[in-house]
Order: sequence, then structure tokens, then C-alpha cells
Amino acid sequence: MCGIVGYVGDEECATLLVDGLRKLEYRGYDSAGVAVLGKEGLSVVRAKGKLANLEKRLGEQTPRGMTGIGHTRWATHGKPSDENAHPHKYGGVAVVHNGIIENHLELKETLARAGHKFASETDTEIFAHLIADEEKSGKTLPDAVRGALAKVKGTYALAVMSERSPEMLVVAKNASPLVLGLGETCNFVASDVPAILAHTRDVIFLEEGDFAVITKKGVQLTDRAGNKLARAVRRIDWTPTMAEKNGHKHFMHKEIHEQARALTDTIRGRASVEEGDVYLDGCKLDAKTVAGLNKVHVVACGTSWHASLTGKLMIETLARMPVEVDLASEFRYRQPLVDSRTLCVAVSQSGETADTLGSFREAKSRGARGLAICNVVGSAIAREAEDVLYTHAGPEIGVASTKAFTTQLAAFFLLAVRLGRLRGTLDAPTARKHLEALRELPMLVERTLKHEAEIQQAAYKFSASRDLLFLGRGPQFPVALEGALKLKEISYIHAEGYAAGEMKHGPIALIDENMPVMVLAPRESETEPGVNYEKILGNIQEVKARGGRVIAICSEGDTMVPDLAECAIAIPQTNALLQPIISVIPTQLFSYHVADHRGTDVDQPRNLAKSVTVE
Ligand code: AGP
Repeated sequence: MCGIVGYVGDEECATLLVDGLRKLEYRGYDSAGVAVLGKEGLSVVRAKGKLANLEKRLGEQTPRGMTGIGHTRWATHGKPSDENAHPHKYGGVAVVHNGIIENHLELKETLARAGHKFASETDTEIFAHLIADEEKSGKTLPDAVRGALAKVKGTYALAVMSERSPEMLVVAKNASPLVLGLGETCNFVASDVPAILAHTRDVIFLEEGDFAVITKKGVQLTDRAGNKLARAVRRIDWTPTMAEKNGHKHFMHKEIHEQARALTDTIRGRASVEEGDVYLDGCKLDAKTVAGLNKVHVVACGTSWHASLTGKLMIETLARMPVEVDLASEFRYRQPLVDSRTLCVAVSQSGETADTLGSFREAKSRGARGLAICNVVGSAIAREAEDVLYTHAGPEIGVASTKAFTTQLAAFFLLAVRLGRLRGTLDAPTARKHLEALRELPMLVERTLKHEAEIQQAAYKFSASRDLLFLGRGPQFPVALEGALKLKEISYIHAEGYAAGEMKHGPIALIDENMPVMVLAPRESETEPGVNYEKILGNIQEVKARGGRVIAICSEGDTMVPDLAECAIAIPQTNALLQPIISVIPTQLFSYHVADHRGTDVDQPRNLAKSVTVE
């Protein structure tokens, strides 16, 4: 996610802004910049890549001034480049922004018709144009910002400065975080506490819709309409390291708890429940293109491969298209049956995994159309795709993928609905029902996370285990694989995921009192338990009959599974294809707490890298 820092005070602030941005580097970024307002006017210095590149540029021409804003960019619209880096400046106004303007194309067209020329591919630059126009009509900077926000649909943490209003910053918050820092003779704004902890521990966390005018003498808080607001000043006692994790002990824990927001950001602006359809920005798939396809072939590794197995079920169910899913390391070294009628989908959080990139190139060399599901804008796999469906999970720092998995599932679901609508296998009313369920997910995720204490208790009970089996059926089988991967990669316990129906073909020989089994056993729907549920009840009984200990993940209100299991975690019910997004969460928390209890390095497990860019 992007990082924002702002300062108004009595000191030269260019270096102070860069130091603040450095404290936000953990958020991940691909370019950075600062804008400083002083006697020589408004200067903007930006650079693609790491902060060192920005510092090199600043060294050549350090702008002087005591009002300034800085930004580290995590690209969402427009590739990483100097021109797309923030701050964006127009007509004496400079802005930095974290979020997405959903109606940016429409606004850009209107401004272009009025003669505006744009210097970047970003949605953010529009804010500078809108605010400068409002100022030109005679408004003060706060009113000019209000006028611009009235035209914008989307999310923002926004900081604005203007040559016409020296020694002032105007900030606004909607869905992306912003915090104010209160100093003796200066004041700050930032995306997150670490950026300002070196200067003050007195902060105000802005809430949805908050608007603030910041000068060195103080901050004035209002709502968007200008009505005065009072917000509590909080004293932060975190260490800087704790602050980077927003108070969480590990990045993985923070990222598990970010999943509702990550899903909201991934779905936002794409699912039109009213129309019963999906709009995939970045995907040029239309009815004619899709009519020319006869199968989907997915290539991925690790967690992304598990997500792809669920994606297969989603696409085959909703779009009735045959889907093959391959481990990328296998696909690229055999003679894959791929041609111009194949849609090859490469799934990769980093967008840099060597095996996935190699397989994607292999498929495209055989004529396949390439679609990427990635989390990093401008990554290698995204750059080589005809269509890109970005997850908007924000940077995933923990090596163990969590929010990447759940947002990949949401992306697959959006793709499946779109393909179904384009192929005519999914009518609007049915699609509407599915999209309503999708829209409800973030709230269900938050509800599931509330079970963390009981999951932690179960984790401590089994943290000394040498082995553990995960079982699932249907859409829950990939969750069993994913749960096993999470546990083994961060706790170093040997864990295996199995299709529950396979137990009698071998694995049941493993079962005794030393082999705990986690069973994914949600019902198929509120009304119908479903065949997978009935069958998995039998599997639980098989395990128990041989002395195995069962940890079950079941639906809220289910009485049968809790009667059979030693521990049962109840999760909210959603439709069968989306249920994995909910049922995976207890497995993530279980693995996290087992590993934390065992004292392993949860964020950087031994022998592993976050992105495997070598074969
Ligand atoms: C999962 O927790 C691991 N980090 C690993 O399996 C990962 O999913 C795999 O290396 C693929 O990475 P990618 O999604 O960036 O391509």
C-alpha cells in the first residue's frame, strides 16, 4: 500500500519527509517523491525505485521549504515510473493519494475536454487538476478540496498543498488510513504511525469521512461538509518496530487480519450486483474473444496453485469451461496441449515466480492467450499478459501467503462470473445472487477472525505434534492442501493435505492417537448439508474409530460435527464456492499460533524466500 507523510512547521522538511517515508518502506513501494513549498515556490522531486534513488535526486537539488508532503507509491493504475510517482502537481497544487478513484476515466475525459493535459497514467493526478480548477474559481484550499472530493467516487487518504495557501496542508480520509501527529511547533500527517513516531507520540487517527486543515499552529478537524469534529488524541507507546506491524507481533498476523479490507479492495468497482455482472479493469475479454476459447489452463506454484484448484471449480461451475490446473514446474517441461483456443491463466502473488513465468511464456509461445492474476502491479508476469486481473491485497510481507490466497479466490470468482456471463451459462439473476454472496464476504471474514482465541487454544493443544493431516472434500480439498502448507512452512511440523475420500486408499494407515487430523467440514449451504458434508462425517468417524484426534472446522449451528470432534471451530456459512475464503482463515490462525508457540521465525521461516525467482 502507498505511504504518505506530511509536515508543516519551522524546519526545512525535505529530509524529514524522506526519513518519514523510510519508516513506511515495509508497506512495499515501487517509486517515491516529495513536494516542498518555500520561498522559491512549489518544488516536486520524484524517482522510480527505492528511496535511495529519490535521495540521490534530492542531493542534486534539495528543495527548500517548511511545508511538504511525501509519498511511497504501490502502483495500482499506471506502471511504476518517475512520471507516475507521487506527488502530482498541477496549477500550483500538489497532491499525494493512497486509494483508488473509481470514476477516474470519466473525470479525466471531462477535464481533457476542458483542455487539461495529463503528465501521468495515474488516477491520482486528477485530484491536482480538480483542486486547481476549484481554487481558480476563487475558493480557499479547504473548499477547493471539498469541491474536488464531491466529484470523486472511490477511496482515498489524500494530502494536498498549494502555492496559494502556504504553511497549510489539507487532508481527507475515506477507506484508506490517515493519522495526524501533533508537535509543539509543527504538525504531521501520515498513512501510519511509524512515519511520525520520531517526532511525536500524540496522534489522532482520522475516521471515515474526516477532513482536516493542518498548520504549524494546530489542526482543525471537520466532516466533509465542514462541521467541526472532535477526535481523541491518543498517546502511542509502541516501539517503532511494533508500529510497523500496527501492534501485531508478526506481519503474518497483521496480514491475516487485513483480509476483510484486502477482499473489499479486490472486489471494489468490479462486482455490479445490480446488473448481475462483473467489470474486470485490465481484462479485454469480450464475448467474441471468449467464444474463440475452448479451455482454460492455469499455471501456478505453492499457495497460488491451491487457489487455482478452487478457481477451477468456480470456472467449471459458473462458466462451464473445462479447466486444467498445473504446477508450473511440471507444465513447462512436458508437451502441454495448449493452443490459440486456450486461455492460460498465470497466478502469482509476486508476479515474479520463475516457474510460473516460464510456464506462462511456454503457453503463450504455443498460441495461448495470457491472463495474469497478480498482486504486484507491473511485475514480470503482469507485464507479459494480454489481460491482468490484479488482486488489491497490498504488499504481503510475511513469507507465508495468507491475504494473497483469499484475494486470489475472489479474483477467480469474479473471472468465473464474467466468463459465465459472456458465454451465456450464467444469467443475470443467478449472477446477482453470487455477487451478493461475494459482497458479504468481508463481513463474514471479520466474524470468523473473532474466533481467534479458541483457535489459539486448539493450536497450543497440538503444537507439540510431529505430524498432522488436513482433510477436505470438493471446494474444501484445496483448503486442506493450503492448511497443510501453512502449517509445515512456518512451524516445521510435517503436515499433509488430502482429499478425504482418499483416506481408505492409504492414509488411514497413519491414523492413531499421535496423528491429529484437521477436517474442513462446513455444510454446503444453510438449507442443504450437501454430499461432501455427509461423506466427511463418515471420514471423521473413521478417524475417531482408530483413535485419531479430530480438530474440525464446521458451520455455525452445526451440532453433528462438534459432537464428533475434540475441538470444533464454527464459521459463518456462505455459498459452497466461496466457503473456502472463510474456512481457510481458521487454518491460517491455527498454523500461526502453533508456529508462534513453537518459537519459529513466523515471518521469515527457515530455507524459504517470499518470491522464488530462481528455478
Ligand atoms: C506460500 O505460503 C508460499 N509463500 C509459496 O508457496 C508461494 O505461494 C509460492 O512460492 C508462489 O509464489 P507467488 O504466488 O508469488 O508466485
